[in-house]
Amino acid sequence: MKHNAEIEKRKTFAIISHPDAGKTTLTEKLLLFGGAIQTAGAVKNNKIKKTATSDFMEIEKQRGISVATSVMAFEYLGKQINILDTPGHKDFAEDTYRTLTAVDSVILIIDSASGVEAQTKRLMEVCRMRNTPVIIFINKMDREGRDSFDLLDELEEILKIKVCPLSWPIGIGATFQGVYNIFNKELNLFAANKTKISEDVISIEDVNDPALDEIIGEGPSAELREELELVEGVYDAFDRETYLSGKVAPVFFGSAINNFGVKELLEAFLEISPSPIGRETSEGFIAPENKDFSGFVFKIHANLDPKHRDRIAFLRIVSGKFERNKFYNHVRLEKKMKFSNPTSFMAQDKSIIDEAFPGDVIGLYDTGSFKIGDSLTEGAPFSFKGIPSFSPEIFMELENKDPMKSKQLEKGIQQLTDEGVAQLFIQQPGNRKIVGTVGQLQFEVISYRLENEYGAKCAFVPRRYYKACWMTTDNQEKLAAFIRAKSIYVATDKDDNYVFLAETPFLLQMAQADYPEIDFHFTSDFKVGQEV
Ligand code: G4P
Repeated sequence: MKHNAEIEKRKTFAIISHPDAGKTTLTEKLLLFGGAIQTAGAVKNNKIKKTATSDFMEIEKQRGISVATSVMAFEYLGKQINILDTPGHKDFAEDTYRTLTAVDSVILIIDSASGVEAQTKRLMEVCRMRNTPVIIFINKMDREGRDSFDLLDELEEILKIKVCPLSWPIGIGATFQGVYNIFNKELNLFAANKTKISEDVISIEDVNDPALDEIIGEGPSAELREELELVEGVYDAFDRETYLSGKVAPVFFGSAINNFGVKELLEAFLEISPSPIGRETSEGFIAPENKDFSGFVFKIHANLDPKHRDRIAFLRIVSGKFERNKFYNHVRLEKKMKFSNPTSFMAQDKSIIDEAFPGDVIGLYDTGSFKIGDSLTEGAPFSFKGIPSFSPEIFMELENKDPMKSKQLEKGIQQLTDEGVAQLFIQQPGNRKIVGTVGQLQFEVISYRLENEYGAKCAFVPRRYYKACWMTTDNQEKLAAFIRAKSIYVATDKDDNYVFLAETPFLLQMAQADYPEIDFHFTSDFKVGQEV
Protein backbone atom coordinates (compact mmCIF):
# COMPACT_ATOMS: atom_id res chain seq x y z
CA MET A 1 0.00 0.00 0.00
CA LYS A 2 1.22 3.50 -0.79
CA HIS A 3 2.40 5.63 2.11
CA ASN A 4 -0.44 8.16 1.67
CA ALA A 5 -3.03 5.41 1.67
CA GLU A 6 -1.57 4.06 4.93
CA ILE A 7 -1.92 7.52 6.49
CA GLU A 8 -5.42 8.03 5.13
CA LYS A 9 -6.47 4.69 6.58
CA ARG A 10 -5.65 5.52 10.19
CA LYS A 11 -7.66 7.23 12.89
CA THR A 12 -5.89 7.75 16.20
CA PHE A 13 -7.98 9.10 19.03
CA ALA A 14 -8.83 8.94 22.73
CA ILE A 15 -12.12 8.64 24.55
CA ILE A 16 -12.21 11.00 27.49
CA SER A 17 -14.73 11.67 30.23
CA HIS A 18 -15.27 12.42 33.85
CA PRO A 19 -15.18 9.08 35.73
CA ASP A 20 -18.46 7.15 35.46
CA ALA A 21 -19.79 8.90 32.37
CA GLY A 22 -19.32 5.67 30.40
CA LYS A 23 -15.83 5.65 28.88
CA THR A 24 -15.17 1.99 29.61
CA THR A 25 -18.58 0.97 28.36
CA LEU A 26 -18.29 2.92 25.11
CA THR A 27 -14.73 1.70 24.48
CA GLU A 28 -15.91 -1.83 24.89
CA LYS A 29 -18.80 -1.39 22.48
CA LEU A 30 -16.48 0.10 19.87
CA LEU A 31 -14.16 -2.88 20.26
CA LEU A 32 -17.09 -5.25 19.83
CA PHE A 33 -17.88 -3.56 16.51
CA GLY A 34 -14.31 -3.93 15.40
CA GLY A 35 -14.30 -7.58 16.41
CA ALA A 36 -11.30 -6.82 18.62
CA ILE A 37 -13.05 -8.46 21.55
CA GLN A 38 -15.72 -11.09 21.57
CA THR A 39 -17.37 -10.61 24.91
CA ALA A 40 -18.62 -7.65 26.85
CA GLY A 41 -16.68 -7.20 30.07
CA ALA A 42 -13.20 -7.69 28.62
CA VAL A 43 -12.23 -4.06 29.02
CA LYS A 44 -14.26 -3.49 32.12
CA ASN A 45 -12.21 -6.03 34.03
CA ASN A 46 -9.13 -3.95 33.45
CA LYS A 47 -10.66 -0.83 34.83
CA ILE A 48 -9.13 0.71 37.91
CA LYS A 49 -11.79 0.11 40.49
CA LYS A 50 -13.14 3.03 42.41
CA THR A 51 -12.83 1.17 45.67
CA ALA A 52 -9.10 0.80 45.20
CA THR A 53 -8.29 4.47 45.71
CA SER A 54 -6.22 3.96 48.82
CA ASP A 55 -4.56 0.78 47.69
CA PHE A 56 -2.00 1.84 45.18
CA MET A 57 -0.44 -1.60 44.74
CA GLU A 58 -3.81 -2.84 43.60
CA ILE A 59 -4.03 0.10 41.23
CA GLU A 60 -0.52 -0.51 39.94
CA LYS A 61 -1.34 -4.16 39.42
CA GLN A 62 -4.36 -3.16 37.43
CA ARG A 63 -2.32 -0.60 35.56
CA GLY A 64 0.01 -3.43 34.70
CA ILE A 65 -2.84 -5.40 33.23
CA SER A 66 -4.01 -2.34 31.42
CA VAL A 67 -0.82 -2.09 29.36
CA ALA A 68 -2.62 -4.46 27.03
CA THR A 69 -5.40 -1.95 26.66
CA SER A 70 -3.22 1.17 26.57
CA VAL A 71 -3.66 1.16 22.83
CA MET A 72 -6.50 -0.72 21.24
CA ALA A 73 -6.16 -1.11 17.51
CA PHE A 74 -8.68 -2.69 15.19
CA GLU A 75 -9.98 -2.45 11.67
CA TYR A 76 -13.49 -1.35 10.78
CA LEU A 77 -14.88 -0.45 7.36
CA GLY A 78 -11.40 -0.42 5.87
CA LYS A 79 -9.98 1.98 8.46
CA GLN A 80 -7.42 1.20 11.11
CA ILE A 81 -8.65 2.59 14.39
CA ASN A 82 -6.18 3.25 17.20
CA ILE A 83 -7.89 4.07 20.50
CA LEU A 84 -5.45 5.36 23.10
CA ASP A 85 -6.71 4.59 26.57
CA THR A 86 -6.49 7.23 29.27
CA PRO A 87 -6.66 6.41 32.96
CA GLY A 88 -9.91 7.49 34.52
CA HIS A 89 -8.44 7.86 38.01
CA LYS A 90 -7.86 11.54 38.69
CA ASP A 91 -4.47 10.96 40.31
CA PHE A 92 -3.24 9.88 36.90
CA ALA A 93 -4.58 12.98 35.15
CA GLU A 94 -1.09 13.96 34.01
CA ASP A 95 -0.87 10.64 32.13
CA THR A 96 -4.08 11.49 30.35
CA TYR A 97 -2.88 14.97 29.39
CA ARG A 98 0.27 13.50 27.86
CA THR A 99 -1.68 10.86 25.97
CA LEU A 100 -3.75 13.64 24.44
CA THR A 101 -0.59 14.93 22.72
CA ALA A 102 -0.41 11.63 20.83
CA VAL A 103 -3.94 11.61 19.38
CA ASP A 104 -5.43 13.46 16.42
CA SER A 105 -8.93 13.82 17.84
CA VAL A 106 -11.07 12.87 20.84
CA ILE A 107 -14.54 11.64 21.69
CA LEU A 108 -15.75 13.29 24.87
CA ILE A 109 -18.50 11.55 26.82
CA ILE A 110 -21.00 13.44 28.92
CA ASP A 111 -23.46 11.80 31.31
CA SER A 112 -26.88 13.23 30.36
CA ALA A 113 -27.85 13.55 34.03
CA SER A 114 -24.62 15.08 35.32
CA GLY A 115 -23.69 17.36 32.42
CA VAL A 116 -20.27 18.95 32.47
CA GLU A 117 -18.18 17.76 35.45
CA ALA A 118 -14.84 18.83 36.92
CA GLN A 119 -12.66 16.44 34.95
CA THR A 120 -14.57 17.14 31.72
CA LYS A 121 -13.63 20.77 32.04
CA ARG A 122 -9.95 20.12 32.62
CA LEU A 123 -9.69 17.62 29.79
CA MET A 124 -11.35 20.05 27.45
CA GLU A 125 -8.86 22.75 28.45
CA VAL A 126 -6.07 20.43 27.38
CA CYS A 127 -7.80 19.78 24.05
CA ARG A 128 -8.26 23.47 23.49
CA MET A 129 -4.55 24.13 24.00
CA ARG A 130 -3.85 22.10 20.88
CA ASN A 131 -7.11 22.73 18.99
CA THR A 132 -7.82 19.00 19.05
CA PRO A 133 -11.05 18.18 17.19
CA VAL A 134 -13.72 16.95 19.62
CA ILE A 135 -16.88 14.91 19.07
CA ILE A 136 -19.27 14.85 22.04
CA PHE A 137 -21.36 11.80 22.92
CA ILE A 138 -24.16 12.46 25.39
CA ASN A 139 -24.61 9.13 27.12
CA LYS A 140 -27.20 7.42 29.31
CA MET A 141 -30.21 8.74 27.41
CA ASP A 142 -32.12 5.71 28.73
CA ARG A 143 -32.06 7.33 32.15
CA GLU A 144 -33.83 10.44 33.34
CA GLY A 145 -31.47 13.22 32.41
CA ARG A 146 -31.41 16.92 31.73
CA ASP A 147 -33.12 18.81 28.95
CA SER A 148 -31.06 18.50 25.76
CA PHE A 149 -31.04 22.22 24.96
CA ASP A 150 -29.92 23.01 28.52
CA LEU A 151 -27.14 20.46 28.21
CA LEU A 152 -25.93 21.95 24.95
CA ASP A 153 -25.98 25.44 26.47
CA GLU A 154 -23.93 24.17 29.38
CA LEU A 155 -21.41 22.55 27.02
CA GLU A 156 -20.95 25.78 25.10
CA GLU A 157 -20.74 27.90 28.20
CA ILE A 158 -18.47 25.83 30.42
CA LEU A 159 -16.38 24.05 27.83
CA LYS A 160 -16.09 27.19 25.71
CA ILE A 161 -16.70 25.38 22.44
CA LYS A 162 -19.53 25.77 19.94
CA VAL A 163 -21.63 22.66 19.47
CA CYS A 164 -23.46 21.24 16.49
CA PRO A 165 -25.97 18.44 17.19
CA LEU A 166 -25.80 15.78 14.48
CA SER A 167 -28.45 13.63 16.11
CA TRP A 168 -31.42 14.56 18.27
CA PRO A 169 -33.09 12.51 21.01
CA ILE A 170 -36.77 11.62 21.02
CA GLY A 171 -37.79 11.74 24.66
CA ILE A 172 -35.53 10.85 27.56
CA GLY A 173 -35.42 8.18 30.25
CA ALA A 174 -38.73 6.32 30.40
CA THR A 175 -40.00 8.10 27.28
CA PHE A 176 -36.79 7.69 25.27
CA GLN A 177 -37.69 6.29 21.86
CA GLY A 178 -34.48 6.81 19.95
CA VAL A 179 -32.69 9.50 18.01
CA TYR A 180 -33.19 11.24 14.73
CA ASN A 181 -29.89 11.29 12.88
CA ILE A 182 -29.67 14.78 11.40
CA PHE A 183 -26.49 13.86 9.53
CA ASN A 184 -27.93 10.83 7.66
CA LYS A 185 -31.64 11.74 7.89
CA GLU A 186 -32.49 8.47 9.59
CA LEU A 187 -34.57 7.45 12.51
CA ASN A 188 -32.86 5.10 14.97
CA LEU A 189 -35.32 3.39 17.22
CA PHE A 190 -34.23 2.51 20.71
CA ALA A 191 -34.48 -0.96 22.12
CA ALA A 192 -32.67 -1.85 25.32
CA ASN A 193 -30.03 -4.18 24.00
CA LYS A 194 -26.79 -5.02 25.67
CA THR A 195 -25.40 -7.62 23.34
CA LYS A 196 -26.58 -7.16 19.77
CA ILE A 197 -24.64 -4.75 17.61
CA SER A 198 -27.28 -3.87 15.08
CA GLU A 199 -29.90 -1.14 15.39
CA ASP A 200 -33.31 -0.61 13.86
CA VAL A 201 -32.74 2.20 11.43
CA ILE A 202 -35.51 3.71 9.34
CA SER A 203 -34.77 6.21 6.64
CA ILE A 204 -36.89 9.37 7.06
CA GLU A 205 -35.69 11.92 4.52
CA ASP A 206 -38.24 14.49 5.58
CA VAL A 207 -39.34 14.85 9.20
CA ASN A 208 -42.76 15.99 7.99
CA ASP A 209 -43.32 12.52 6.57
CA PRO A 210 -46.53 11.18 8.25
CA ALA A 211 -44.75 7.83 8.65
CA LEU A 212 -42.97 9.45 11.58
CA ASP A 213 -46.28 9.95 13.45
CA GLU A 214 -47.12 6.32 12.93
CA ILE A 215 -43.81 5.09 14.21
CA ILE A 216 -43.21 7.23 17.27
CA GLY A 217 -46.70 8.68 17.90
CA GLU A 218 -48.22 12.06 17.10
CA GLY A 219 -47.18 13.85 20.28
CA PRO A 220 -43.49 12.88 20.14
CA SER A 221 -43.42 13.58 16.37
CA ALA A 222 -44.75 17.09 16.85
CA GLU A 223 -42.24 17.70 19.60
CA LEU A 224 -39.38 16.35 17.50
CA ARG A 225 -40.33 18.55 14.53
CA GLU A 226 -40.47 21.60 16.76
CA GLU A 227 -37.15 20.81 18.38
CA LEU A 228 -35.44 20.12 15.06
CA GLU A 229 -36.67 23.46 13.79
CA LEU A 230 -35.20 25.11 16.84
CA VAL A 231 -31.92 23.20 16.36
CA GLU A 232 -31.73 24.42 12.81
CA GLY A 233 -32.39 28.00 13.88
CA VAL A 234 -29.94 28.04 16.79
CA TYR A 235 -26.95 26.03 15.55
CA ASP A 236 -24.90 26.52 12.40
CA ALA A 237 -24.97 23.69 9.90
CA PHE A 238 -22.12 21.22 10.31
CA ASP A 239 -18.89 22.30 8.69
CA ARG A 240 -16.06 19.78 8.71
CA GLU A 241 -13.28 22.36 8.50
CA THR A 242 -14.56 24.17 11.59
CA TYR A 243 -14.69 20.86 13.44
CA LEU A 244 -11.16 19.95 12.29
CA SER A 245 -9.86 23.27 13.58
CA GLY A 246 -11.29 22.46 17.02
CA LYS A 247 -13.82 25.31 16.97
CA VAL A 248 -17.04 23.33 16.89
CA ALA A 249 -17.91 19.98 18.43
CA PRO A 250 -20.50 17.74 16.71
CA VAL A 251 -22.83 16.15 19.27
CA PHE A 252 -24.44 12.70 19.28
CA PHE A 253 -26.89 11.24 21.78
CA GLY A 254 -27.12 7.61 22.81
CA SER A 255 -26.79 4.94 25.44
CA ALA A 256 -23.51 3.10 25.44
CA ILE A 257 -24.63 0.30 27.71
CA ASN A 258 -27.52 -0.46 25.37
CA ASN A 259 -25.32 -0.19 22.33
CA PHE A 260 -27.53 2.57 21.15
CA GLY A 261 -26.16 5.35 18.98
CA VAL A 262 -22.73 3.77 19.13
CA LYS A 263 -22.61 2.50 15.57
CA GLU A 264 -23.71 5.83 14.13
CA LEU A 265 -21.19 7.61 16.35
CA LEU A 266 -18.42 5.34 15.07
CA GLU A 267 -19.43 5.67 11.45
CA ALA A 268 -19.76 9.45 11.59
CA PHE A 269 -16.45 9.56 13.43
CA LEU A 270 -14.78 7.58 10.62
CA GLU A 271 -16.22 9.93 8.06
CA ILE A 272 -15.38 13.28 9.62
CA SER A 273 -12.46 12.80 12.02
CA PRO A 274 -8.93 13.64 10.88
CA SER A 275 -6.42 11.09 9.67
CA PRO A 276 -2.97 11.43 11.29
CA ILE A 277 -1.77 14.99 11.39
CA GLY A 278 1.76 16.35 11.67
CA ARG A 279 3.41 18.01 14.63
CA GLU A 280 5.55 21.06 15.37
CA THR A 281 9.24 20.40 15.94
CA SER A 282 12.38 22.38 16.63
CA GLU A 283 12.88 22.38 12.83
CA GLY A 284 9.35 23.46 11.92
CA PHE A 285 6.22 21.49 11.08
CA ILE A 286 6.67 17.84 10.13
CA ALA A 287 3.86 16.38 8.02
CA PRO A 288 2.98 12.66 8.11
CA GLU A 289 3.73 12.45 4.37
CA ASN A 290 7.36 13.32 5.05
CA LYS A 291 9.32 10.28 3.90
CA ASP A 292 11.76 10.18 6.83
CA PHE A 293 10.51 8.40 9.92
CA SER A 294 9.98 10.44 13.10
CA GLY A 295 8.09 9.95 16.35
CA PHE A 296 7.98 10.84 20.02
CA VAL A 297 7.62 9.05 23.33
CA PHE A 298 4.52 10.12 25.26
CA LYS A 299 4.27 7.43 27.90
CA ILE A 300 6.57 5.01 29.66
CA HIS A 301 5.25 2.02 31.48
CA ALA A 302 7.47 0.35 34.03
CA ASN A 303 6.99 -3.21 35.10
CA LEU A 304 6.70 -3.35 38.86
CA ASP A 305 7.65 -6.97 39.04
CA PRO A 306 11.29 -6.99 40.24
CA LYS A 307 11.94 -10.11 38.15
CA HIS A 308 10.97 -8.29 34.98
CA ARG A 309 12.47 -4.86 35.11
CA ASP A 310 11.71 -3.91 31.54
CA ARG A 311 9.92 -0.74 30.66
CA ILE A 312 7.84 -0.08 27.59
CA ALA A 313 8.14 3.29 25.91
CA PHE A 314 5.07 4.22 23.87
CA LEU A 315 6.04 5.97 20.68
CA ARG A 316 3.63 7.84 18.43
CA ILE A 317 4.76 7.80 14.83
CA VAL A 318 4.45 11.21 13.22
CA SER A 319 6.02 10.81 9.78
CA GLY A 320 7.60 8.28 7.42
CA LYS A 321 7.74 4.57 8.01
CA PHE A 322 9.14 2.92 11.11
CA GLU A 323 11.10 -0.25 10.41
CA ARG A 324 12.33 -2.94 12.74
CA ASN A 325 16.12 -3.19 13.14
CA LYS A 326 16.81 0.05 11.36
CA PHE A 327 19.00 2.68 13.04
CA TYR A 328 17.35 5.92 14.13
CA ASN A 329 18.58 9.01 15.97
CA HIS A 330 17.77 9.18 19.65
CA VAL A 331 17.92 12.96 19.49
CA ARG A 332 18.43 13.81 23.17
CA LEU A 333 21.18 11.22 23.67
CA GLU A 334 22.73 11.99 20.26
CA LYS A 335 22.91 8.27 19.73
CA LYS A 336 21.88 5.82 17.01
CA MET A 337 19.48 3.13 18.18
CA LYS A 338 17.69 0.20 16.57
CA PHE A 339 14.85 -1.89 17.89
CA SER A 340 14.64 -5.61 17.37
CA ASN A 341 11.26 -6.28 18.96
CA PRO A 342 8.93 -3.31 18.60
CA THR A 343 5.34 -4.29 19.40
CA SER A 344 1.99 -3.28 18.04
CA PHE A 345 -1.26 -3.45 19.91
CA MET A 346 -3.58 -4.93 17.30
CA ALA A 347 -6.57 -6.69 18.78
CA GLN A 348 -5.09 -6.86 22.25
CA ASP A 349 -2.40 -9.30 21.43
CA LYS A 350 0.97 -7.65 21.56
CA SER A 351 2.93 -8.83 18.58
CA ILE A 352 6.25 -7.88 17.08
CA ILE A 353 5.90 -5.73 14.02
CA ASP A 354 8.22 -5.08 11.09
CA GLU A 355 6.86 -1.69 10.12
CA ALA A 356 4.46 0.97 11.31
CA PHE A 357 3.02 4.20 9.91
CA PRO A 358 1.99 7.70 11.01
CA GLY A 359 -0.76 7.58 13.59
CA ASP A 360 0.40 4.22 14.92
CA VAL A 361 1.62 3.76 18.45
CA ILE A 362 4.31 1.18 19.01
CA GLY A 363 5.83 -0.19 22.18
CA LEU A 364 9.63 -0.13 22.46
CA TYR A 365 11.37 -2.18 25.12
CA ASP A 366 13.52 0.17 27.09
CA THR A 367 16.22 -0.27 29.68
CA GLY A 368 16.27 3.35 30.73
CA SER A 369 17.20 5.29 27.61
CA PHE A 370 13.88 7.03 27.20
CA LYS A 371 12.26 10.01 28.85
CA ILE A 372 8.78 11.29 28.15
CA GLY A 373 8.99 13.68 25.21
CA ASP A 374 12.04 12.04 23.58
CA SER A 375 12.19 12.13 19.80
CA LEU A 376 13.40 9.46 17.38
CA THR A 377 14.18 10.55 13.83
CA GLU A 378 15.62 9.29 10.60
CA GLY A 379 17.93 11.70 8.77
CA ALA A 380 18.04 15.11 10.45
CA PRO A 381 17.79 15.17 14.25
CA PHE A 382 15.01 17.39 15.63
CA SER A 383 12.76 17.40 18.67
CA PHE A 384 9.01 17.47 18.89
CA LYS A 385 7.47 20.33 20.76
CA GLY A 386 4.60 20.37 23.10
CA ILE A 387 4.60 17.53 25.56
CA PRO A 388 3.83 19.98 28.28
CA SER A 389 4.24 19.56 32.00
CA PHE A 390 1.33 20.98 33.94
CA SER A 391 1.73 22.60 37.31
CA PRO A 392 1.46 19.90 39.96
CA GLU A 393 -1.03 20.32 42.77
CA ILE A 394 0.75 18.60 45.63
CA PHE A 395 4.36 19.31 46.52
CA MET A 396 6.65 17.42 48.90
CA GLU A 397 10.32 17.65 49.65
CA LEU A 398 12.10 14.34 49.25
CA GLU A 399 14.29 13.39 52.20
CA ASN A 400 16.89 10.70 52.16
CA LYS A 401 16.40 8.30 55.05
CA ASP A 402 19.49 6.20 54.41
CA PRO A 403 22.66 8.27 53.81
CA MET A 404 24.48 5.14 52.57
CA LYS A 405 22.07 4.92 49.66
CA SER A 406 22.08 8.48 48.38
CA LYS A 407 23.36 7.46 44.94
CA GLN A 408 20.56 4.94 44.57
CA LEU A 409 18.01 7.53 45.67
CA GLU A 410 19.37 10.02 43.16
CA LYS A 411 19.22 7.51 40.31
CA GLY A 412 15.80 6.21 41.34
CA ILE A 413 14.07 9.54 41.58
CA GLN A 414 15.63 10.60 38.30
CA GLN A 415 14.35 7.52 36.50
CA LEU A 416 10.90 7.66 38.04
CA THR A 417 10.47 11.27 37.05
CA ASP A 418 11.75 10.47 33.53
CA GLU A 419 8.89 8.00 33.33
CA GLY A 420 6.50 10.78 34.26
CA VAL A 421 5.42 9.35 37.63
CA ALA A 422 5.94 12.82 39.12
CA GLN A 423 7.77 16.07 38.41
CA LEU A 424 11.04 16.91 40.04
CA PHE A 425 12.15 20.44 40.88
CA ILE A 426 15.61 21.16 42.24
CA GLN A 427 16.16 23.98 44.71
CA GLN A 428 19.43 25.58 45.64
CA PRO A 429 21.40 25.68 47.79
CA GLY A 430 21.81 22.04 48.69
CA ASN A 431 20.20 20.41 45.62
CA ARG A 432 16.95 19.99 47.51
CA LYS A 433 14.41 17.87 45.68
CA ILE A 434 10.81 18.99 45.50
CA VAL A 435 8.50 16.36 44.06
CA GLY A 436 5.23 17.56 42.53
CA THR A 437 2.21 15.44 41.55
CA VAL A 438 -1.50 15.78 40.82
CA GLY A 439 -2.46 13.07 43.30
CA GLN A 440 -1.44 11.73 46.68
CA LEU A 441 -1.16 8.24 45.26
CA GLN A 442 2.05 8.99 43.38
CA PHE A 443 3.96 9.58 46.62
CA GLU A 444 3.11 6.06 47.76
CA VAL A 445 4.15 4.75 44.38
CA ILE A 446 7.47 6.60 44.57
CA SER A 447 8.42 5.46 48.10
CA TYR A 448 7.46 1.90 47.30
CA ARG A 449 9.40 1.82 44.06
CA LEU A 450 12.47 3.61 45.45
CA GLU A 451 12.70 1.01 48.15
CA ASN A 452 11.89 -2.05 46.06
CA GLU A 453 13.67 -1.22 42.85
CA TYR A 454 16.56 0.95 44.02
CA GLY A 455 17.02 -0.06 47.66
CA ALA A 456 16.65 3.57 48.80
CA LYS A 457 14.57 4.82 51.70
CA CYS A 458 12.85 8.18 51.62
CA ALA A 459 10.40 10.37 53.46
CA PHE A 460 8.23 13.18 52.15
CA VAL A 461 7.85 16.51 53.89
CA PRO A 462 4.84 18.56 52.73
CA ARG A 463 5.55 21.89 51.10
CA ARG A 464 2.53 24.12 50.83
CA TYR A 465 2.86 25.60 47.38
CA TYR A 466 -0.11 26.72 45.36
CA LYS A 467 1.39 26.31 41.88
CA ALA A 468 4.63 25.88 40.02
CA CYS A 469 4.90 28.71 37.48
CA TRP A 470 7.34 28.50 34.61
CA MET A 471 8.95 31.86 33.90
CA THR A 472 9.89 33.41 30.57
CA THR A 473 11.26 36.84 29.79
CA ASP A 474 13.34 38.84 27.33
CA ASN A 475 14.91 40.66 30.22
CA GLN A 476 17.55 38.37 31.73
CA GLU A 477 18.60 41.03 34.25
CA LYS A 478 15.11 41.17 35.73
CA LEU A 479 14.96 37.39 35.88
CA ALA A 480 18.30 37.30 37.70
CA ALA A 481 17.00 39.97 40.11
CA PHE A 482 13.83 37.91 40.71
CA ILE A 483 15.84 34.77 41.38
CA ARG A 484 18.05 36.64 43.86
CA ALA A 485 15.12 38.24 45.66
CA LYS A 486 12.94 35.09 45.81
CA SER A 487 15.60 32.40 45.90
CA ILE A 488 13.74 30.30 48.44
CA TYR A 489 10.79 30.04 46.05
CA VAL A 490 12.73 29.41 42.86
CA ALA A 491 13.64 25.98 41.51
CA THR A 492 14.63 24.41 38.21
CA ASP A 493 12.70 21.72 36.34
CA LYS A 494 14.04 18.66 34.48
CA ASP A 495 15.15 20.82 31.56
CA ASP A 496 16.76 23.48 33.77
CA ASN A 497 13.94 25.97 33.22
CA TYR A 498 13.33 28.35 36.09
CA VAL A 499 10.11 27.81 38.02
CA PHE A 500 8.54 30.03 40.66
CA LEU A 501 6.94 27.99 43.45
CA ALA A 502 4.19 30.34 44.51
CA GLU A 503 2.76 29.72 47.97
CA THR A 504 -0.56 31.47 47.37
CA PRO A 505 -2.44 33.11 44.49
CA PHE A 506 -1.81 36.42 46.22
CA LEU A 507 1.97 35.96 46.24
CA LEU A 508 1.80 35.09 42.56
CA GLN A 509 -0.13 38.28 41.85
CA MET A 510 2.45 40.26 43.83
CA ALA A 511 5.26 38.73 41.81
CA GLN A 512 3.44 39.59 38.59
CA ALA A 513 2.88 43.16 39.72
CA ASP A 514 6.46 43.64 40.89
CA TYR A 515 8.04 41.99 37.84
CA PRO A 516 5.91 42.89 34.83
CA GLU A 517 8.81 41.96 32.53
CA ILE A 518 8.46 38.29 33.51
CA ASP A 519 5.68 36.04 32.17
CA PHE A 520 4.43 33.30 34.48
CA HIS A 521 2.88 30.12 33.02
CA PHE A 522 1.05 27.15 34.58
CA THR A 523 2.46 24.80 31.95
CA SER A 524 5.95 24.22 30.64
CA ASP A 525 4.83 24.46 27.03
CA PHE A 526 5.06 28.20 26.63
CA LYS A 527 3.88 28.45 23.07
CA VAL A 528 0.48 26.99 23.75
CA GLY A 529 0.45 27.27 27.56
CA GLN A 530 -2.04 29.55 29.19
CA GLU A 531 -0.60 32.58 30.82
CA VAL A 532 -1.49 32.87 34.46
P1 G4P B 1 -16.17 5.25 33.13
O1 G4P B 1 -15.30 4.29 32.41
O2 G4P B 1 -16.36 6.55 32.40
O3 G4P B 1 -15.82 5.46 34.56
O4 G4P B 1 -17.67 4.66 33.15
P2 G4P B 1 -18.21 3.18 32.94
O5 G4P B 1 -18.22 2.82 31.50
O6 G4P B 1 -17.59 2.24 33.89
O7 G4P B 1 -19.72 3.43 33.33
C1 G4P B 1 -20.10 3.89 34.62
C2 G4P B 1 -21.46 3.32 35.00
O8 G4P B 1 -22.44 3.82 34.09
C3 G4P B 1 -21.51 1.81 34.91
O9 G4P B 1 -22.39 1.37 35.91
C4 G4P B 1 -22.15 1.57 33.56
O10 G4P B 1 -22.81 0.35 33.46
C5 G4P B 1 -23.13 2.72 33.49
N1 G4P B 1 -23.49 3.11 32.11
C6 G4P B 1 -22.69 3.28 31.03
N2 G4P B 1 -23.40 3.64 29.94
C7 G4P B 1 -24.71 3.68 30.34
C8 G4P B 1 -25.93 3.97 29.66
O11 G4P B 1 -25.98 4.27 28.48
N3 G4P B 1 -27.05 3.94 30.42
C9 G4P B 1 -27.05 3.61 31.75
N4 G4P B 1 -28.22 3.58 32.39
N5 G4P B 1 -25.91 3.31 32.41
C10 G4P B 1 -24.75 3.35 31.72
P3 G4P B 1 -21.85 0.78 37.29
O12 G4P B 1 -23.07 0.47 38.10
O13 G4P B 1 -20.83 1.67 37.88
O14 G4P B 1 -21.10 -0.49 36.84
P4 G4P B 1 -21.71 -1.88 36.37
O15 G4P B 1 -22.08 -2.55 37.62
O16 G4P B 1 -22.86 -1.60 35.46
O17 G4P B 1 -20.57 -2.53 35.66
